[in-house]
Amino acid sequence: MVSSLRVSKEGLEIVEQARKKKGWTKTAAAWCQAAFTTEATLKRFWRQVPIQQDSFIKICEAVGVNWEDVLDKTLSPGTLRVDWEEPIDVSVFYGRTKELADLENSILKNRLAVLTGMGGIGKTALVGKVWEKQIKGKFDYTIQRSLSTSPLLPELLKDIVEFLSDGEQQEGGISQLMEYLRKQRCLLILDNVETIMSIGTNAGNFCPEFQDYSELIKRVKSEQHKSCLLVMSRERPQDAIWLRGEKVGFLALCGLKKEAQELLKEQGLSGSEKDLETLNTLYGGNPGSLKLISSLIQELFNGIVLNYLKSGTIVVVLKEILEQHFSRLSDLETQIMVKLAVNSDPSSLSLLVEEISPLSTAELMQAVKSLIDRALIEKSCTEVDDVTFTLQPEVRKYVKRKFVK
Ligand SMILES: Nc1ncnc2c1ncn2[C@@H]1O[C@H](COP(=O)(O)OP(=O)(O)OP(=O)(O)O)[C@@H](O)[C@H]1O
Ligand SMILES: [Mg+2]
Repeated sequence: MVSSLRVSKEGLEIVEQARKKKGWTKTAAAWCQAAFTTEATLKRFWRQVPIQQDSFIKICEAVGVNWEDVLDKTLSPGTLRVDWEEPIDVSVFYGRTKELADLENSILKNRLAVLTGMGGIGKTALVGKVWEKQIKGKFDYTIQRSLSTSPLLPELLKDIVEFLSDGEQQEGGISQLMEYLRKQRCLLILDNVETIMSIGTNAGNFCPEFQDYSELIKRVKSEQHKSCLLVMSRERPQDAIWLRGEKVGFLALCGLKKEAQELLKEQGLSGSEKDLETLNTLYGGNPGSLKLISSLIQELFNGIVLNYLKSGTIVVVLKEILEQHFSRLSDLETQIMVKLAVNSDPSSLSLLVEEISPLSTAELMQAVKSLIDRALIEKSCTEVDDVTFTLQPEVRKYVKRKFVK
């Protein structure tokens, strides 16, 4: 028998019934107390992650269940271990053939893979899909955590090390983690990493209390091991940019192209190819926006895209996400966004320097670069190789409404 145990699918139902009888929630403090365990371990139990035998037995006993009746007897040392904090439903997923291949490649080839893109663009969905479809069987251990609750690194490492050691080690720092990354093939997925990055300065720098994450990234990239850390963020982490090169992969996710039409149709919309394409362009191919606007078009226009387009307005549906993005910008970045919103044509760097003065060109360049790292501005090249910048229509509308009187 292995020293760590996990509950079977059928066993979960038995535990669920027993829990209800007791009147406990799934992570009740009374349950943790009675089983001499932590909430984190109890959560793992529910997610069918192997935990220490002793904790497993006590969790079952506390709720009045015979542990042998609910045990997953198929678990062996060779079983792939997976601890996905927030399961993702990817049953409806369109396109992204190239991105799926690129991400798979990046994860399998590198020690550090970085996936960036604005809110709603599909980062979480893409990772869920690539894991499910292409890389599930290739790692001994997969652990996914969202940093949206801003966990301090020691807290997060404790959680990860406990998982990677099958519950045997309950403490551990970066060095312990590195040992496991060497010993077995692990995939660590950290989502919503922008949450622990500084606000009001240029993009991609960790807040002072999260500086040790920078150390984690550097060690994972530079030390020898057979695992991968996948960082997902709305902002490109500057540390990773410093580390650009061997064993680091970057993927910046852009909007959906033609495949957006399938998504819009699946959402119940009807319209010519041209109308659907126009709608997709208005929302920058952002699947999050497209789903929300589809719901509005359904309700107000019976799903007929042309009738919405005829209204001549762009409803800002991604308001909440855009609020979050804008609350993170520096004053200069906000000024640049306002200028780009007001200028109907794409603006060159020299035009922005002229319009936003007095300030140094260097400062402006850094701020524009930062906005690119946040995926908030679009870049294009003119015939004379001059780079120009502009905003997606929905973003432009949001900026105008919020900042331009
Ligand atoms: N290729 C796709 N096909 C169908 N639906 C998609 C696709 N990509 C994303 N979606 C859907 O669009 C919505 C937004 O996607 P997702 O949550 O992955 O964005 P995100 O980039 O992770 O955003 P955030 O930065 O806010 O976490 C979700 O409802 C998701 O299911
Ligand atoms: Mg996400």
